[in-house]
Amino acid sequence: MKILNLKKQAELEIVLLRDKKLPKALTKAEKDALEIQNYKGEGCCFLVASKKFFVGIESYNYPFPNAIRDALANALASIKKLRIKSASLVVESQQEAKEVCEGVLLGSYVFDAFKSKKGENNLQEIYLSSTKLEQKILAQIIKESQILSESINQVRELINTPPMIATPKYVADFAQRIAKECGIECKVYDEKFLEKEKMGAFLAVAKASANKPYLVHLSYKPKVAKGKNLPKIVLVGKGLTYDSGGLSLKPGDYMTTMKSDKSGACAVIGILESVAKLGVQAEVHGILGLAENMIGGNAYKPDDILIARNQKSIEVRNTDAEGRLVLADCLSFASDLKPDFLIDLATLTGACVVALGDYSTGIMGYNQKLKESFAKAAFEAGELSGILPFNPYLRKLFNSEVADLCNIPSSRYGSAISAGMFLGEFVAESLTQKWLHLDIAGPAYVEKAWGVNPFGASGAGIRAVVQFILNQTK
Ligand code: BES
Ligand code: ZN
Ligand code: ZN
Repeated sequence: MKILNLKKQAELEIVLLRDKKLPKALTKAEKDALEIQNYKGEGCCFLVASKKFFVGIESYNYPFPNAIRDALANALASIKKLRIKSASLVVESQQEAKEVCEGVLLGSYVFDAFKSKKGENNLQEIYLSSTKLEQKILAQIIKESQILSESINQVRELINTPPMIATPKYVADFAQRIAKECGIECKVYDEKFLEKEKMGAFLAVAKASANKPYLVHLSYKPKVAKGKNLPKIVLVGKGLTYDSGGLSLKPGDYMTTMKSDKSGACAVIGILESVAKLGVQAEVHGILGLAENMIGGNAYKPDDILIARNQKSIEVRNTDAEGRLVLADCLSFASDLKPDFLIDLATLTGACVVALGDYSTGIMGYNQKLKESFAKAAFEAGELSGILPFNPYLRKLFNSEVADLCNIPSSRYGSAISAGMFLGEFVAESLTQKWLHLDIAGPAYVEKAWGVNPFGASGAGIRAVVQFILNQTK
């Protein structure tokens, strides 16, 4: 579907109803048609005779960033089934334009690669115009939204790809292809490199799988005038292409959807693609920890003691707490790049979903201001989040009798936070104030469509992190 910056007659006119206000210029027939349907500006209403599609924008009485995006995504589900190829729409502000574009482009994604009968979509073009915005600005917003939404939809497709196909190697190849396309650097390291780097925690998780682990390092450095200092942001993504739980095997019900345990790493690919295509004035690196958590004679076991890259020893008590082991070594590796901001994205804990619900990302770290500025960026970008606070008592729950740390806490309460604090042990001490942990276990995978997210992978974290990076360049 294309959004074009055009003031042109289309087969259908989409009319946004702000604050439930119906347009003044309605014909008698239109008024009658609305009356019969008892339409008061809530939800959608299609006036067949005049080819107008009214979209009511739900006004929430508390700060909530998604009203227009959600309304458009919802409307599109009906519009694309009509026998209509083009629609027009008028927006009043930059924010509205951005939300309309994202609502349309993100809301219209479907994962139907494996369906014999593809989802129905007749709508091909949307003409966007505004009496209040300059042409140039509107064109720029459309272009930026298209870049971001295309990255997100590609990432969704990658995450949705079944684990028999989307192995660590497949994701590494995908990253390499994207890097080539947008002219960024991509290094793919195999098991030998992990051994050389003494990544004992990462290697242990990957041991039982027939699909070998990879660490990918993506880097984007824009051309810049001499003497100009760019902020350096390093992103780390959990890329478990499948999490069976390992020997601490997940029950069947909890294992399904675990193809989405690579969502953090996949989001990092999408963020790098977006910042490169947008030409953002920041140096951005992405480190992907790609592995599969499986069972077998060679599997790592509860009772094993692993030595991580930073030399800390870890007692394994549960092989299902594997993400933190992969990330431990990746965070240590990423710390060596000496970033101004170090951010990890991970579907780390079910506890984060219990704490915040399915819709919000958990923001954690040691720097209150940084956490708040990230939450603000997420909100601006239309993503929901909540800050979960660290405390020294939860940190103690990781104490082990036999090693420096244990990979699970001694209490299950607060375990989204304690998992975050575990990760903090592998961030270089000089960087603890510059580090953020984002637990995307809730919003990464959607089993009941909401907002701009259809069934399946959502691409959570991409919009928020891109906005955060943009804010550092202002
Ligand atoms: N990948 C899971 C976390 C997860 C759960 C993501 C649900 C998305 C939806 C992670 O590796 C895991 O299994 N965590 C355990 C930790 C526990 C063993 C301490 C969990 O959350 O139960
Ligand atoms: Zn797990
Ligand atoms: Zn996992």
